[in-house]
Amino acid sequence: MQRVLVINGSPKGERSNTMQLTNAVLSGMRQATDEIDVCMKNICDMDITPCVGCMSCWGKTPGKCVVGDCMQEVYEHFKMADTVIFSFPLYFFGMPGAMKVFVDRLMPLMETYRGAVKTIGKDAFHEFRFDTSDKQFVIISTCGYGRAEEIFDSLTKEMDFIFGSGNYYPLYCPQGEMFAIEALKPQINCYLERYRAIGTCLGAHEVVTEEMLKAASEPILLQRAFEMLVNNYWDQVTPKKKVYLFGDSLMKGVMPDADGMYHSSDAIGFSDMQKKYRFELSNFAMPTFTTTQILTYMKTVAAGKELPDLVVLEGGGNDCDHDWPRFAKTNGKELVNRVPLVQFERNLREMVLFWTKKHVPCALVITPPIDMNKFFLHLQKDERLHAVRDKFPDVSRMEQEYVEYKKIMYQVIEEYHLSCIDLSHCFDACNGMEIYSDDGMHPNEIGYGMFKSVFEACFSGM
Ligand SMILES: Cc1cc2nc3c(=O)[nH]c(=O)nc-3n(C[C@H](O)[C@H](O)[C@H](O)COP(=O)(O)O)c2cc1C
Repeated sequence: MQRVLVINGSPKGERSNTMQLTNAVLSGMRQATDEIDVCMKNICDMDITPCVGCMSCWGKTPGKCVVGDCMQEVYEHFKMADTVIFSFPLYFFGMPGAMKVFVDRLMPLMETYRGAVKTIGKDAFHEFRFDTSDKQFVIISTCGYGRAEEIFDSLTKEMDFIFGSGNYYPLYCPQGEMFAIEALKPQINCYLERYRAIGTCLGAHEVVTEEMLKAASEPILLQRAFEMLVNNYWDQVTPKKKVYLFGDSLMKGVMPDADGMYHSSDAIGFSDMQKKYRFELSNFAMPTFTTTQILTYMKTVAAGKELPDLVVLEGGGNDCDHDWPRFAKTNGKELVNRVPLVQFERNLREMVLFWTKKHVPCALVITPPIDMNKFFLHLQKDERLHAVRDKFPDVSRMEQEYVEYKKIMYQVIEEYHLSCIDLSHCFDACNGMEIYSDDGMHPNEIGYGMFKSVFEACFSGM
């Protein structure tokens, strides 16, 4: 009867990647002989007291541990076993802590060290108290890294000291997490054959060749495929950063068509950005909204929802714009901003405070000025404004007003140390290129494309 002691040091117990290899070895052993008795010890189910360091096992009670726990039974199994298999994952280039606790408790099995100078070479540092020349020691370990070279070096050194180099079979397998991927079953089964073959040798007490050991430590997949799968996995399980965006039509990529009808678009490219930089954007921007409306809407949206990781606030353009219906109604006498400057500042602060009080970081978007000349031409086409077309204000007055609104935004950004997504300069480089839609208020495709790079810079660093 061949006695096999398996020590499973993975905290995942039966679900251990490494145990898939160990089970393949055991099945190979069973193929080689019916006369096999396997004793399986799952360290995660055992209550092992860490070594107390009393050294009694080398002095007062040589070969005996004074701690009366489940290890007492393990010592017996260990002594009786023909094959001892250690199965565990690589943790920080060594064995997992619980496995180390187990190994420390093997001290009573070793001869007392009496201070002699040792030429270690390939030998074990300590000798066992009993003859182990007929025992087969097998160390099976998986790691998460793409290849086994170097990554197992410290473990190899430790095992060489414990068992003596050449006195144990190291089966160190990289890409261990691939064993958990259902779709890779065919490749994995093929790979496990190498371990089954090793098991057959062990079952027959035959030497496992260097070639077999080498094949057992080869990567399962080519590096490129492995890297892609690992990336996909982490992408799937890592929660995406949540971004809320509040603003007006600009953030919805709105453009007028030839008939003057307005349509949203993805001209800024938020869809691709979300995939590329792995965030989830909830775009709550609403065409025609001023900060007063955004503020109310923002509070409604936030109620009962999970807090985002970042809030992007865009506004001011519609606030600074004029109440044109009122202008027409008063026959050009009353020209007021849709949200007066003082109210705009109040709104802006309230918006920012709403999120900062919840510890949600905010970024303010500064948009470029509109093309006033184009905008005025557009207004003149509006039949409702025909009667007051000669009473339109100076373009320069409106441009100046816009500067005042923008100043407030910069002030708030500085005061609250907010991130700034400044789109106002990206049009500077356009050098006469047409970047506005016909209404002068909205960028065209090219203009929105200019926004893209600024947003990318913000989201890529998130
Ligand atoms: C705490 C911890 C430390 C790890 N350290 C390493 C490491 O140093 N090198 C490595 O390549 N993989 C490392 N891994 C990955 C595991 O070795 C790998 O996922 C292994 O296949 C898990 O095997 P198991 O399912 O048998 O527990 C580590 C995993 C954890 C949880």
